[in-house]
This record gives sequence, C-alpha cells and structure tokens, in this order.
Amino acid sequence: MTQPDFIIIKAKEDGVNVIGLTRGNDTKFHHTEKLDKGEVMIAQFTEHTSAMKIRGKAEIHSSHGVVSSEGKE
Ligand code: TRP
Repeated sequence: MTQPDFIIIKAKEDGVNVIGLTRGNDTKFHHTEKLDKGEVMIAQFTEHTSAMKIRGKAEIHSSHGVVSSEGKE
C-alpha cells in the first residue's frame, strides 16, 4: 500500500485538541492530543484512525490545501 497522507496541524492558540476517531463499525474517540500555541502535530490516517476532529483555532495542512479551524468566540 502507498503511504497514507500526512496531515499537519499547527495550533494557533493554547489548548487545541486533535482527536483521533476509530475506523470500523463504530466511530469513537480513541486519542486526544493537546497542542499549545505554535505546536505542530504531524499525523496520518491509519488502520485504526479514520477521521480526526480538531477543536480550537488551528491551521490544518493536507493534500487538499490549508484550512483553518476557528476557536469559539
Ligand atoms: N494509534 C493511533 C493509530 O495508529 C495513532 C494515531 C495515528 C493518531 N493518527 C492519529 C491519533 C491521529 C490521533 C490522531 O491510528
């Protein structure tokens, strides 16, 4: 199999959560990583991880381009 894409998440505020959701019949949180402002996480989709949820203000870089998530006002 070819290498799954990497996703790069850069936190734009303290306390950004990167939440991994399971692959399969049920979709559950399996891991939460907390990033503070300026911290970067590089992650892949794997056999265990089908989706990621980003909570807080961050830049998400992927092969689809760059998208920004917003923090709550
Ligand atoms: N054990 C997880 C996995 O192999 C680690 C992981 C990979 C992860 N990508 C992630 C955790 C994205 C949170 C978000 O799937």
